[in-house]
Amino acid sequence: MTTQDYGKTDKGEAISLYTLRNRNGVEIAITNYGARVVTLKTPDARGRLADIALGFDSLKGYEGPNPYFGAIVGRYGNRIAKGKFSLDGKEYTLARNNGENSLHGGLVGFDRVIWSGKTEESNGVQKAILTYTSKDGEEGYPGTLKVSVTYSLSNNDDIQIDYLATTDKATVLNITNHTYFNLAGQGNGDILSQVMQINADHFTPVDSGLIPTGELKDVTGTPFDFRKPTVIGSRINDKDEQLVLGKGYDHNYVLNRSGNGLVMAAKAVDPPSGRVLEVWTTEPGVQFYTGNFLDGSAVGKNANNYAQRTGFCLETQHYPDSPNHPEFPTTVLKPGEEYKTTTVWKMRFVEPAK
Ligand code: GLA
Repeated sequence: MTTQDYGKTDKGEAISLYTLRNRNGVEIAITNYGARVVTLKTPDARGRLADIALGFDSLKGYEGPNPYFGAIVGRYGNRIAKGKFSLDGKEYTLARNNGENSLHGGLVGFDRVIWSGKTEESNGVQKAILTYTSKDGEEGYPGTLKVSVTYSLSNNDDIQIDYLATTDKATVLNITNHTYFNLAGQGNGDILSQVMQINADHFTPVDSGLIPTGELKDVTGTPFDFRKPTVIGSRINDKDEQLVLGKGYDHNYVLNRSGNGLVMAAKAVDPPSGRVLEVWTTEPGVQFYTGNFLDGSAVGKNANNYAQRTGFCLETQHYPDSPNHPEFPTTVLKPGEEYKTTTVWKMRFVEPAK
């Protein structure tokens, strides 16, 4: 476990990098700039390590324009329609940064603020703990919000992310992590031949602004059915209205669950390396995004240009635009309540395909 300098922001603020390493060689590095995952090295069955997270070689890259590589997004992961919602009879107007909508917290979301950070180790589990206080009115959201995000790495190759928050006024909240994974290793081509399984009978179809229509649509007989492991690229270019609107997969899945505990949301496999990622969560949904907006413009690690669909995200979350959909699980947090969610990335491997 190490803490290193990670350079200074354009404004001269000193930034740190926290690196956790377990005895199997799994390594995760997190910066307090946006609480972002900068490196995620995992072994395959032959013990070969690859960095499976898209990102940059230095802080400069993260400060420049980029689509939330590795970031914690908040206060509200994904979109709020027209940047407006009402709570207790009062209308709130948010920063709009995605056409007429508010996306991933607004203009300066949690991905672009400086968190306080520290590391801790107990019983073989290494932790990077990041905290941030978001001021009342920040990006238009009510309430002073105290947030903590803890990344823990254990020797069984689980990376657990615990999210906690409290507020002093009623507000809405939906925090997630936006890491782009490529199980073949970042920069190693697209993710279209990787295999995905998603534990969901339904997804939330969207309109042309990628706002949920409110319908929970049955995946049966559609290219959205990932209940059995399916090659990501096998149906991605089908003439399906929802795939056309998303330019690929960019949709929230309604996870099959009973109760509020951890369930497996998704499992991805890269057959040639055998690398496996399982995502478990206490959240009701997961956004499966296939990097459709990546266009090669960001020069990433080792000068790799990340072209379209060279990474996928599995953003565990409440459904997009929930504050405007009373029929969806609530995202309201009130004073005296504790926001508490957990997501686990289980880094595994199987024998590579021949
Ligand atoms: C999310 C959204 C996408 C896109 C990316 C960031 O996953 O659903 O539409 O905005 O973030 O580029």
